[in-house]
Amino acid sequence: MLVGKRILLVIAGGIAAYKSLDLIRRLRERGASVRAILTRGGAEFVTPLSVAALSEEKVYTDLFSLDDESEMGHIRLSREADLLLVAPATADILAKMAAGIADDLATTALLATNKPVMAAPTMNVEMWNHKATQENVATLRARGIVTVGPGSGDLACGEVGSGRMAEPLEIIAQIEHFFGTAAPLSGRRALVTSGPTHEPIDPVRFIGNRSSGRQGHAIAAALARRGAATLLVSGPTAERDPAGVTVTRVETARDMLEACRAALPVDVAVCAAAVADWRPAEAAGSKLKKARGKPPSLSLVENPDILASLAARGNGRPRLVIGFAAETEKVAENAKAKRARKGCDWMLANDVSTGTDTFGGDSNTIEFVTETGSEGWPRMTKQEVAERLADRIAANLRAGAAE
Ligand code: C5P
Repeated sequence: MLVGKRILLVIAGGIAAYKSLDLIRRLRERGASVRAILTRGGAEFVTPLSVAALSEEKVYTDLFSLDDESEMGHIRLSREADLLLVAPATADILAKMAAGIADDLATTALLATNKPVMAAPTMNVEMWNHKATQENVATLRARGIVTVGPGSGDLACGEVGSGRMAEPLEIIAQIEHFFGTAAPLSGRRALVTSGPTHEPIDPVRFIGNRSSGRQGHAIAAALARRGAATLLVSGPTAERDPAGVTVTRVETARDMLEACRAALPVDVAVCAAAVADWRPAEAAGSKLKKARGKPPSLSLVENPDILASLAARGNGRPRLVIGFAAETEKVAENAKAKRARKGCDWMLANDVSTGTDTFGGDSNTIEFVTETGSEGWPRMTKQEVAERLADRIAANLRAGAAE
């Protein structure tokens, strides 16, 4: 988290400037405030208006604007920040920084600052490998400037190699590391299942259930906000993909199991999906014809139990395996038995009997069951359940790491 941290972001003129917009959003999500300076080149790639809308701050663009100078001089601008971040950092701005050139607002602020500076270089691979750039970067590093990336891969210029700007989440991880505020789950991997599964009867019909996916999606988002690399395996839902989460969409229980297995190893698995217990033994290849007075009879077979299968793994078992139990009676008692039967560590049980509005609704009343006992959580929103669970997960994994 970066609550209260003030970032002065310098956006120089590289194609990766579009990523800086996402970077601003994510920095603010973590509680940082962002003021931005757009270089003349930067303003060719993103508009001051988009930067201002995302940062909710005035955007600074020109050293010689009387307005800017009278409101906030380059000295104050560079001092009223906890960190100066240059992203994208082009070969040109890196060269100016190394040489101490101050010919616009951005480079003047960078020269005038007494605050730490971080840079995310991005450029064509040959420009990056050029001796001039390598020497400039070495000079900057020797002066204590922290660089993030560049990564390698396909570049916007069509060439392949080193030169891609680091992704916003990598830059943020580096900033959190720098401030010693690394998110509690950074470096951890989390898997979450969510939503219903659809089990085909024929190409147009399926067996499904009313799960909205709201709880599972909120948990994935809460884990990602705490820094976990989070994979969400979701059945068909109307929920939007949560920010910062890798989403794999599946239809059936068997696909869900396969996607979960492919995600391993993980530190924690949260099975919040309402997986269909049974599926038609055989899905018809073409739409079943309606014959009056002769409804087809379906022969059902049991679906694999994803939670039990993750909990039963030997070596590759996630450190924490967490399930949900939707009950309509004797909630705590049934959940305890279910936790033991499935072999998972924690079970979050909820009452889904008619009138509770849990299934498909916005709130949830949880009985939190562990090996050693259980506790009742007051009625709260699914978002709040997700936050509380993510905090418990972080505390548990931290305790485990300290052992
Ligand atoms: O047995 P029951 O369906 O009540 O168990 C609910 C828990 O088990 C939930 O965590 C659900 O995600 C998980 N589950 C599963 N695979 C199944 C059935 C349930 O992962 N086939």
